[in-house]
Amino acid sequence: MNNIVVIGSCNLDITVLANKRPVAGETILGTGLNMSPGGKGANQAVAAAKLGAQVTMVGCIGNDAYGDIFEKTFANYGINTDYLIRLDDVTTGTAHITLAEGDNSIIVIMGANAHVDATVIDHAWDAIKEADLVLVQNEIPLSTIGYIANRCQKEQIPLLINPAPAGDLKPEWLAAATYITPNEHELASLYPHMSTEEVLLHNEEKVIVTLGKEGVSYAKDGHIKTIPAFVMDPVDTTGAGDTFNGAFATAIVNGKSLEEALRFGNAAAALSITRLGAQGGMPTRDEVMSLVSTKE
Ligand code: RIB
Repeated sequence: MNNIVVIGSCNLDITVLANKRPVAGETILGTGLNMSPGGKGANQAVAAAKLGAQVTMVGCIGNDAYGDIFEKTFANYGINTDYLIRLDDVTTGTAHITLAEGDNSIIVIMGANAHVDATVIDHAWDAIKEADLVLVQNEIPLSTIGYIANRCQKEQIPLLINPAPAGDLKPEWLAAATYITPNEHELASLYPHMSTEEVLLHNEEKVIVTLGKEGVSYAKDGHIKTIPAFVMDPVDTTGAGDTFNGAFATAIVNGKSLEEALRFGNAAAALSITRLGAQGGMPTRDEVMSLVSTKE
C-alpha cells in the first residue's frame, strides 16, 4: 500500500519575477527569471515521491530539451516513467508565470499534455490497475479525465480528482471519484447551484475544499471541520496546491486517517512556499513530520 499513479501534465515553468504586475500596454523591467520543471501532474508526482510514495507518472512530453529536463527530474526522485510518452512534432507543455506583489498569475500552453488521451491511458493500464490511489488534474483533456473516472469506477480503483484549473467535469465523473480537492473557485464552478457548505455536507469525507491561508475544510457526521494551515512567510506559492495533493495522497496510501492526511498535506504545502519554484520547496517526510509535531 504505497503505490500512487499520477496521470497529468508536465510543464516547464518559465517564471518572471517583478515588483509589480504590468497593466495592459505597459512594459516594465523585471527582477529575475527562473526556469524549472512544473505542471500540476509532475508537481504532484514529485511531492509524493519526495515523501516516500512509489510513484508512476503517466503523461506526454515533447522530444525536446524541456522533455529531457523531465526525464532527469523523474529519474532523480525514483519516479517510474515507463508510461511517460515522448512525442515528436509537439513541444513539452510550458507555463508562463508572473510572480509579483506576493502572488502568481499563470498562462499554460498545453503542448504535449493535450495528447494525453484514452490510448495513453489504455497503454498505462497495467500500472493504473495496481494503484492504491490515482491522481488526476485538469491540465490534460477533460474527456480523458472522464475516461479515467469511468474505468477507475468500473475496476474499483481509488481516484483523487484535483479539479485545477477550473473546468467542466461531468457530475458522473465527480461521482466516480474517491476524493475531490477543489479550491473555492473551482468548487463554485463545479457545483454552481450549491453553497460550499452544501457541497461538503452532500459529499462527506470526499470533497475537501482548500482555503489557502485558512487551511482545508471537509464534512464528517453532518458537521463541517476545518484543519488549519501552518503559517509561513511565502517566497513563491506556485505548486503549494500540488504539494498538498501529493502529500495528502501519500498519507492516505500509507493508511493515515483523513484528518491526519489533511494535516500532513497542510504542513507539506506550507513548507513548499518557502522556496522559489513549484518543486523547489517541496519538503521531505522528516521536514513535514517535524512541522506537524509542532501542532500536536
Ligand atoms: O500548480 C502549479 C503549476 O500550475 C505550475 O507548476 C504550472 O506549471 C501550472 O501548471
